[in-house]
Amino acid sequence: MNSELIRNDFPILKKECGGRPIVYLDNAATSQKPLPVLEAVYEYNTQGNGNPHRGAHVLAISASEAYDGSKEIVRRFINKRSPKEIIYTRNTTESLNLIARSYGETHLKKGDHIVITIAEHHANLVTWQRVAQKTGAVLDYIYVDKKTGHFLEKDLEKINKNVKIVAFAQVSNVLGIEFDPRPLIQRAHEAGAVVVLDGAQSAPHRRVDVQELDCDFFAFSGHKMCASGGIGVLYGKEQLLDDMEPFNLGGDMIEEVREQSTDFAELPAKFEAGTQNVEGAVSLEAAIRYLNEIGFDEIQKQERKLVTQAIQGMQQIPHIRIIGTENPEEKEGLVSFTVDDVHPHDVAEILSAVGICIRTGHHCAQPLHTYLGIYASCRASFYFYNTEEEVQYFLKHLRTVRSVMGYDD
Ligand SMILES: Cc1ncc(COP(=O)(O)O)c(C=O)c1O
Repeated sequence: MNSELIRNDFPILKKECGGRPIVYLDNAATSQKPLPVLEAVYEYNTQGNGNPHRGAHVLAISASEAYDGSKEIVRRFINKRSPKEIIYTRNTTESLNLIARSYGETHLKKGDHIVITIAEHHANLVTWQRVAQKTGAVLDYIYVDKKTGHFLEKDLEKINKNVKIVAFAQVSNVLGIEFDPRPLIQRAHEAGAVVVLDGAQSAPHRRVDVQELDCDFFAFSGHKMCASGGIGVLYGKEQLLDDMEPFNLGGDMIEEVREQSTDFAELPAKFEAGTQNVEGAVSLEAAIRYLNEIGFDEIQKQERKLVTQAIQGMQQIPHIRIIGTENPEEKEGLVSFTVDDVHPHDVAEILSAVGICIRTGHHCAQPLHTYLGIYASCRASFYFYNTEEEVQYFLKHLRTVRSVMGYDD
């Protein structure tokens, strides 16, 4: 991978901060956008902007073509047969809310069980709490080994015939563990449960094949994979989507409206009420084309190199505690950690003063932090445009954090 060439595609990486180009290590929160994506959005807005699926004029038609055409690229990206199964949302959060509301709340009843993991992002946790509260279902957790972050084998037995939904992230945004979800999906299906896979932290980094995974729903966000904010994807198996209530009601999602009743449109329009984010769809198409051109093998190779270097460097710094496995082969693009006696926000501020952007807080995974006995952590997350030089710079300044705070070891 030619990092220099790639970085030229990202104007924001040239932004100066602390007297040098910014070191952006908050990619798990949101990624930066390359020129081909910015240009595609500009082109759409200057040449093709209209309201899709409404009107017969040239701009309405070009907007419809841009919107519908992008779905073909998304369909190929996750390897699905039909674009009908691809619903655009605002982000992963909205995709998960759609499943929880339109499937969970209508298909579950008192006594049913929902199984999630303790490592879930709030988007895949609070949503299921609400389903449980509304339906009387029971919310069960699969816990993780506190050292390695791997699921506790014995907890997998919680997936039994009473379980109707199993929902989990393919990659945790805190633990960053890469694991094969297929045995879990198979187990859930054998129990008769529907599987919801949160792909927010996996889709930007690896090839996703929803047919091979055989998950029932898959959710991800464009902004974490080089597209604009405000565009997300929900994939669902056609049979399940057909059997679900619409999420939002209004224009574009109807077949026929009478005074007292309505027939809803076919998929995917049934779940896409109101004027859609065509600009976002255009950016997502451009982002997928861009990532495909670089190639996911190359992307993973570069990220693995950076994560290995980061972990090995952090292991040499006293008082740094890495969260979850320290095996770089098992980490997908991010390393969460704490620094003894230093509040994570202070770590972030010290690093920010020299132009390094990391994330701190509970990363929308408060139950996981509580379970691990910490209130917050720091997270450095990498993408293919980061360099080894940036990792060295990060390590150099991480080493100074405790002395800046007045500790002399
Ligand atoms: C694992 C996981 N799930 C869901 C989300 C929510 O994504 P969004 O904020 O794009 O809806 C995130 C965001 O960081 C995440 O990391």
